Amino acid sequence: MSSDERTDETDGGPAVRRLTDWDGDRLDELADEYGTPLYVFDPVRVRENCRRLRAAFPDAEIQYAAKAHTARETLRTVHDEGLAIECASAGEVRRALDAGVPGRDVTYTAVNPPARDLEVVVDAWRSNPELTITAGAANTVDRLEERGFDGRLRLRVNPGVGAGHHEKVVTGGHPKFGVGLDRAPALAARAADTFEFAGIHAHAGSGISGEDLADHRELVRRLGDLARDLEADGIPVETVDVGGGFGVPYREEAPALDLDAVAEATREALGEIDGRLAVEPGRYVVADAGVLLTRVNTVKEAPSTVVAGVDAGMTTLLRPAMYDAYHAVRNPDAIGQERDTVGVTIAGPVCETADLLCENRPLPRPERGDLLAVGNAGAYGYEMASTYNSRPRPAEVTLDGELLRRRETLADVSRFDRAKDSTPRRPEEEP
Ligand code: LLP
Repeated sequence: MSSDERTDETDGGPAVRRLTDWDGDRLDELADEYGTPLYVFDPVRVRENCRRLRAAFPDAEIQYAAKAHTARETLRTVHDEGLAIECASAGEVRRALDAGVPGRDVTYTAVNPPARDLEVVVDAWRSNPELTITAGAANTVDRLEERGFDGRLRLRVNPGVGAGHHEKVVTGGHPKFGVGLDRAPALAARAADTFEFAGIHAHAGSGISGEDLADHRELVRRLGDLARDLEADGIPVETVDVGGGFGVPYREEAPALDLDAVAEATREALGEIDGRLAVEPGRYVVADAGVLLTRVNTVKEAPSTVVAGVDAGMTTLLRPAMYDAYHAVRNPDAIGQERDTVGVTIAGPVCETADLLCENRPLPRPERGDLLAVGNAGAYGYEMASTYNSRPRPAEVTLDGELLRRRETLADVSRFDRAKDSTPRRPEEEP
């Protein structure tokens, strides 16, 4: 780790934890004990990331976007570090409350909310009246009112500008999200009459790098202008929530995001406002706190590449298949061995060509039984895992060896099928 990756805040740790910083022997031990594929997660690193965020945004409300990693221990850790929780569904709201997070520190961001979500969240609000709901459409406001909600409501606006690591994660500016800036004042006035108006919100997208800072700044500037317009119309704006999206370096050689520069740009673009700034990072809090371990089961010399067949695939870590995302890969078993470097394609067990963790990556020549570590898997790794191909989801453990989520079994995968005994084979067999 180079000295420029360290911050002055020792309790905030280095600006980034690289894949090479993980102790290979410890990863080996965990893989032996729990099997593979296996997510390994370090809550200590989560604390460091929270502390650096707090140091960069000392006056802001920092809400952790729970969707990046919802394990109960993560929600507890980030809340213990002073972060609130931003939830994307009724399920996340329930998990945050179940983890002991008080309603005042829970925000539900409703995107085309299914009726069931609204019912569960409004019900939760009755016993947690300080909970905040962010609505991004006039109809969502109507539907909340119809259900008797008159609590804290934040308005999501469409800032007309967005950013992100891939077109599929750019939200700001997409018509799916938020109320147009032109229509926001009227809806805010209505919200201020009917609810406890808790401010305005927008989210540019996910995985914003230093290069996207201009878009982030423009989004913040537009929100600042809207806040001042609303104030001038006599509508106090408690919070200006500029969303999350802070990127992390997935490539080993990429620099860490300069969080202080992002914070400085945010404050400058926001200008003077009466309310409080809020940010909603997810990835930044958990990405480098997790690695994925997978074992090589098959090695094949193809004409163009060496294919390493592994036991993790797109059902374990979806990001490469879905976004062509790059994740660093390390072969700790090859360290200290004389292996030549070859172009390696790491392929999972799913019968889809997209089921590749990387293609033709220069790596030590793989051997059957090697353990591979995949970096920056803490954010949107386990969370996007699926049981496609009837493949059980992996286990997740902490670096200390505590089980966060147990490995699913084949029985888990088929548990929603109708029980064999009660499935009539022919109509006349029905009781
Ligand atoms: N706030 C809102 C309203 C969001 O929708 C999101 C992410 C965040 C905050 C947190 O964004 P973050 O700081 O984590 O970038 N599955 C994709 C990422 C999708 C993010 C969706 N919204 C991926 O693996 O890259």
